[in-house]
Order: sequence, then C-alpha cells, then structure tokens
Amino acid sequence: MIRVFPDYDALSRAAAEYIVTAGKAAVAKHGRFDIALSGGKTPELTYQTIAARYLHELRLWEDTHVFWTDERCVPRDSPQSNYRLARTAFLDQVPIPPGQVHPMFEEGRDPQEMADYYEAEFPLAADLLLLGVGPDGHTASIFPNSPAITETKRRILVVEAPVEPRRRLTITPRVIANAMEVLVLVSGPDKAPALPQVFSETGSPDQVPARLVRRALWFVDRPAAERIHKNMIAAGA
Ligand code: 6PG
Repeated sequence: MIRVFPDYDALSRAAAEYIVTAGKAAVAKHGRFDIALSGGKTPELTYQTIAARYLHELRLWEDTHVFWTDERCVPRDSPQSNYRLARTAFLDQVPIPPGQVHPMFEEGRDPQEMADYYEAEFPLAADLLLLGVGPDGHTASIFPNSPAITETKRRILVVEAPVEPRRRLTITPRVIANAMEVLVLVSGPDKAPALPQVFSETGSPDQVPARLVRRALWFVDRPAAERIHKNMIAAGA
C-alpha cells in the first residue's frame, strides 16, 4: 500500500508513530521487537522524531533489538556509517539496552566474517524492516545487476556498490520476503523517476531492485510521488 504525505516532515512523523505502534504490537505478541534500520539519509528525521516524542515508551525500548538492513564497511564513527546516523539521531537517547543494538560492521574486521556472524545474529523474521530506495531503484545495498538480486541461500552478503563506499554488507531478498512487516520511506523529487518502475506490472528487479519489495507499506512524500499513477495511491493519504 502507498501512502502519500505532503512533505518530508509529515512522512517522518507518521513513520515514527508507525514504528512505535508496530513495536508495541510485536512486544505484546512475542515479547520483543526486532527492527532492522535502513541506511541513507531519509530515515534521519524519523529517528529524531522517535527520540523527541517516544522516549517514555520504556516497556517497548527494554524489549527492542536493533539491526541494520545494510552497512558500509567504514568506521562506526564515519559520516558514511548507517550505524552512526542511527546512533546520533536516536539510539544515544532511547533507553535500549546496549547489548540489544547489533551493529553490522566493525572497523578492522573481515567483511565476510562479519557477514557470517550477522547471518547468525539476524532474526529469521524481523518484526519490522525499514527500507529506502535510491534514485537508481536500489534498496538496502542491493544495486541494479547485483548478484544479491538472485541470491537464494545467504541472508547477509558482502557486496561491491557502484558508488562509494563500495564495500558493503546487505540483507538479501530472503530477508525482505521473511520480514513480518516492511516499511519503505521515500522522500524527494530525485526518487520520482524510479517509483513508477518499482510499482509497474512489468519490469525486472535486475534493473530496479526495489521491485523485490513486494509486500510493504510505502510512505512517500508528494515530490517523490509525482509520477505515480493516482489510482495506485491509498485513499485519504
Ligand atoms: C544505504 C541505504 C540505501 C538507502 C537509499 C536511499 O546504505 O545507502 O541503505 O539503500 O536507503 O540509498 O538513501 P537516502 O535515504 O539517503 O536517499
């Protein structure tokens, strides 16, 4: 389902509320909330809104486990680190027990060793997977024509991105398919050309890897939704 919001702020407020609601439902259902955070810049205001509005949800945070959907093989304090973005935007404020935050990469470690380790750590079915979409239609660090697109055995792969930082760890299509829920956040006019290709009846995930995301809730702001046919958009969004 696609929900369109007037702007990035409205999308981020709704995403923060959705994440907290999904987390409380997961804790009520099976005693914990396994969330995998997207990288990139789009989720930053969502994370900051969680820290600003939902710090008091102690019962939720004490049972939350945080993972990542992908990570660049850079130091954790690098401005390019997805871990650093989440830590500074909300994990430093929200009282999640430190042992329940599971970074995907550590400087100096062999990426393949980290992928093997993370494969064992990562939940078989994340309660909520947060994803984004790049202007080229990539999601997580699954880029066009990547071997990750057709990977059916591994859940975590080491990949070479076409843009810096090139060496990355990423979830694979199996992880996306096995997640209990997927929330995709898309903001900005630079994403508008990719979305019709993501949602079209025809087309290959080879060219548009975000087409791998078949069962998801899409939060899209108006600039990014510009080229989506109006009958694909949930009423009253
Ligand atoms: C990454 C992300 C990536 C991101 C998209 C959108 O590590 O870069 O996981 O898949 O979600 O590239 O990035 P923005 O949110 O910065 O536009």
